Amino acid sequence: MWRETAFTRVTGARLPIVAAPMAGGPTTPGLVAAAGEAGAFGVLSGSYRTPDGFRAAIREVRRLTSAPFGVNLLLPEPYEVDPAAVEAALALLRPYADELGVELTAPERYGEDADALLDVALAERVPFFGFTFGVPSPAALAALRDAGTVTCGTATSVAEARALVDAGVDMVCVQGIEAGGHRGAFLGDPFRGAGLISLVPLVRDAVDVPVVAAGGIMDGRGVAAALALGADAAQLGTAFLLCPEAGTSAPYRTAVASAAETGTALTAAFSGRAARGIRNRMLDDLAGADLPPYPVMNDLTRPLRQAAAAAGRADFLSLWAGDGVPLARELPAAELVAALERETDLAVERFGCGRGHG
Ligand SMILES: Cc1cc2nc3c(=O)[nH]c(=O)nc-3n(C[C@H](O)[C@H](O)[C@H](O)COP(=O)(O)O)c2cc1C
Repeated sequence: MWRETAFTRVTGARLPIVAAPMAGGPTTPGLVAAAGEAGAFGVLSGSYRTPDGFRAAIREVRRLTSAPFGVNLLLPEPYEVDPAAVEAALALLRPYADELGVELTAPERYGEDADALLDVALAERVPFFGFTFGVPSPAALAALRDAGTVTCGTATSVAEARALVDAGVDMVCVQGIEAGGHRGAFLGDPFRGAGLISLVPLVRDAVDVPVVAAGGIMDGRGVAAALALGADAAQLGTAFLLCPEAGTSAPYRTAVASAAETGTALTAAFSGRAARGIRNRMLDDLAGADLPPYPVMNDLTRPLRQAAAAAGRADFLSLWAGDGVPLARELPAAELVAALERETDLAVERFGCGRGHG
């Protein structure tokens, strides 16, 4: 019974389980395809890719599978470049850069060409477009609607969910405070917010569109709980980080495999925007520092993060992960999705039996 929901009806996925978009490496076409083949709905992140790279990745997913899948972008937000703040941030980062033997300079331009990435999604006619950090422009939403694309926005509060639905977005991904990666918050303080167990029923009651629950879901117990709270699908990011198909770097994998549930924190240290990751030296050093906003800080730290990944140094990497991280399993994506399906059956049965068979 749990397998068919408003989400599966709209997307055509066999299961109401989403392999979350994870920009910056972890989400590969191979991961999206393997999750899709196993019945989950894989979402390919387009951000941090070039438009050509994004197009190639979409085509690679289609080469690998005929299962339905979606794409996702981090939406651009207005930001200011304050040269003094950039210099101050570079001064904070230089000791790390020296340690890694990498040169740090301010780039000429910040951020990415989100319009070009959106154009790729439209031209490739991907039927599902997810996004985070706000609401797309009315023109972008109209173009997506005309293309017959289902849209799904990220909300970390009831007000954000309402804003998305009022703008005409088709689905809401509710992200709890325990979620790994960037917080999608766009109204209010991104460092504050409710946990998923409070947020899903609140949003469920506030909006009349399919709701996807994200944050701390690691196994079938979590999937069943999200569905019981009123969600139409469960979205898992951290749970997929250790899959061999994921592009998670070696030092990142080691950190994920040994992290405790008390080991994550919200930080703006790596990107200038609130995100949850496993605590490391850079996260702790820069806690409370006055830093430039996203995407400025993100672009300033990129060479450092790339050098750290190449050198196997987890202390300067953004190790995005949610509070459920100790439950991450090193399994091929197909086996992970099969385990999630089995475990959800068991969890649903455990509750269903009591009532149904008295
Ligand atoms: C490494 C990583 C990268 C992420 N990148 C994105 C992204 O590009 N777009 C997005 O909408 N969400 C992104 N997220 C957030 C996920 O969509 C989702 O909200 C989160 O993974 C759920 O929490 P969990 O990690 O505890 O499962 C990312 C999460 C992680 C862990």
